[in-house]
Amino acid sequence: MYSKFTNLIDLNDMPVNWWNEVLELGLKIAGNPQAYSDECRGKIMATLFYEPSTRTQMSFQAAMLRLGGTIIGFDNPETSSVAKGECLKDTAKVVSSYADILVMRHNYEGSAKAAALTADCPIINAGDGGHLHPTQTLTDMLTLLKVKGRTGNLTIGLCGDLKNGRTVHSLCKALSCFKNNKFILISTKELSLPGYVKDIITANGCRYEEVINLEDAIGGLDMIYMTRIQKERFESEDVYLRQKNIFCLDKDKLNKAKDDLCILHPLPRVDEIAYDVDGDPRAMYFKQAEYGVYVRMALIIHMLKNQKPTKLLLGLDNNGIKCENPRCITKLEKYLPGSFRMNGGIPECEYCDERLK
Ligand code: NCD
Repeated sequence: MYSKFTNLIDLNDMPVNWWNEVLELGLKIAGNPQAYSDECRGKIMATLFYEPSTRTQMSFQAAMLRLGGTIIGFDNPETSSVAKGECLKDTAKVVSSYADILVMRHNYEGSAKAAALTADCPIINAGDGGHLHPTQTLTDMLTLLKVKGRTGNLTIGLCGDLKNGRTVHSLCKALSCFKNNKFILISTKELSLPGYVKDIITANGCRYEEVINLEDAIGGLDMIYMTRIQKERFESEDVYLRQKNIFCLDKDKLNKAKDDLCILHPLPRVDEIAYDVDGDPRAMYFKQAEYGVYVRMALIIHMLKNQKPTKLLLGLDNNGIKCENPRCITKLEKYLPGSFRMNGGIPECEYCDERLK
């Protein structure tokens, strides 16, 4: 199945030169945002947020407003017709007829792809459950370019909830496309990176190591990506409490780190970075949040200017088999056609990437 538009559902759907065009424009905008204040005059962006958000939603809105455009949308589905039982397909269809570009965050995995099947304007995935978060990755890469001047040749530590953290999945998939990156995955066994993401790192020619101790790993890193334990993705409070408070980046641990370590965090922070780290010159997470506006300005300009039909689903329904992931959008929106791609002989859901067992 095809979309009439170029959507941003997964960065890895696009070639690396597409990312580079957005990042280069983002760097230019960061140098002089004022110069772009008329770029989107007359255009409307809709933000549909089915899940809580501060940075992603507001940075998208700020980006569009700084480009001279306007915004519509909701940040609480309970105040929209979703509360009356409207399905995703109908909401996407209608809102996309009001706007030129649609930004959507949803708690189910594969939701942006599902919305793109019916939308009449390009869609940007602003986070789909515990799956992907491509615009956070653009933000992270712009920050790396600003701070380290490169996105390759780095030893990259990722720490915390690597299982449920969508920012981590998108970032690993993207950074493994650059030469000589090595990944140090720091988590408990229970919250380790999903197998499919590890396979992508390897397939892209990068190495990874899985470790459980932040203090032992920190000395070798060029960048550390701290993440919060994703409370809302756990099946019970008990399971969450067992994983909470295990990793905390504090001043003592930082004493063992390189002088040019780049400390990133998609935010919000809960307790995984001590407040006294904020004043350290290596702490880049607030700058990172600011750069998110510039890269989103670049993305909006780029997507409004460069549109062509794209492929969404291969459409192999594999004899009626169903995705087994309870968080897959096909579980919520039953009208969606099942669609799988074959990977090493195993069907993989094209919405959420879950492999059939
Ligand atoms: C992240 C998200 O929503 O995935 N936040 C963000 O967009 N900057 C990270 C998180 O919620 O932990």
